[in-house]
Amino acid sequence: MKFPVLKNDRILRAARGDDVDRVPIWIMRQAGRYLPEFRELRSKHDFFTICQTPELAAEASLQPIRRFDLDACIIFSDILVIPQALGMTVEMRSGVGPVLPEPLIAPKDIDRLDNTASIVQKLCYVAEAISLTRNKLDGKVPLLGFSGAPWTLMGYMIEGGGSKTLSKAKAWLYQYPDASKHLLKILTNAVVDYLVMQACAGAQLLQVFESSAEHLGPELFKDYILPCIRDISFRVKAEIKARELDDIPMTIFAKGAHYALPDLAESGYDVIGLDWTIDPEEARRKVGSGITLQGNLDPCSLYAPEAELKKLTKEMLKKFGKSRYIANLGHGIYPDMKPDHVATLIDAVHEV
Ligand code: CP3
Repeated sequence: MKFPVLKNDRILRAARGDDVDRVPIWIMRQAGRYLPEFRELRSKHDFFTICQTPELAAEASLQPIRRFDLDACIIFSDILVIPQALGMTVEMRSGVGPVLPEPLIAPKDIDRLDNTASIVQKLCYVAEAISLTRNKLDGKVPLLGFSGAPWTLMGYMIEGGGSKTLSKAKAWLYQYPDASKHLLKILTNAVVDYLVMQACAGAQLLQVFESSAEHLGPELFKDYILPCIRDISFRVKAEIKARELDDIPMTIFAKGAHYALPDLAESGYDVIGLDWTIDPEEARRKVGSGITLQGNLDPCSLYAPEAELKKLTKEMLKKFGKSRYIANLGHGIYPDMKPDHVATLIDAVHEV
């Protein structure tokens, strides 16, 4: 596919370890409810209708790019489109978040899932949204694609929604190790096909969200999760190469998994996303100099007065340094954040 020439490749350069003129920044959940223009769009359409309608998904993706001097656009979608494509019902309830009314309860429920090649066909609306958004961006900044990672998806599919402990999903790991591995394998295969589809459609960097890694520890992570995470990067990159597409940088964001940083640094990704609970210098020591770090400002620090927010941002940049670094928050932005504070953060990064 042919797309407009890219004018700002800072984030791709940083991901690959090339020099940059200034530190690039994008913000997790940069498209979303803190923007009045998104709330306006959302008042007219159901959440998943926006995801499934390329024109609407492109509009939501572009809103933050029109408003702020960001270095990347992320496609508007959700990690839970994969469980949907596997045949599960997912509802987005206001004030509650995602709800899966018929969660997996026991291993036999895995048979309910549609584990066929048609999964990725059902997600072709995401490919269309990506191609359309990439054209509409007109090369202003790169377009990021993403997917949930297997353990985070498994968590939602078993818990039936968000959970403070993930105790039902973790119980599967202890009670049904073989069935858990089988389910994780189904999800890994879906994620690989889904990310390759996104690359073919025009995504220029791919982020894998293992947001529920914080509920595991080193042993469970190593036994169950790390093999899937490695499999995803190696298979996606091999498939992209086989299709004679240019290599695409990949990011792994395993929230709360400091214990796994040295392993993650060797799992085939170009970038590791960090949450705010680890000191940047400590993270760098754990991963070495051959990988890019992304993060990790506490999303709550955006509530601070402007001068304090600037100070915190500059301290963070000083600790990460300019090379192999992409500025971001340590998790998604909160829905009640004032857009002005987001602009302050972006300007503070650019001023350094
Ligand atoms: O980052 C972006 O701007 C792109 C869009 C994006 C959304 N969800 C839109 C969204 C991305 C990258 C996601 C990823 C996602 N979704 C994750 C991984 C990242 C993370 O936050 O850990 C997870 C765990 C989900 C599942 C999910 N979707 C949850 C837990 C919620 C509720 C959160 C909340 O604040 O209510 C959603 C809903 C959701 N996804 C919204 C948006 C804009 C808000 C829903 C609405 O508009 O009603």
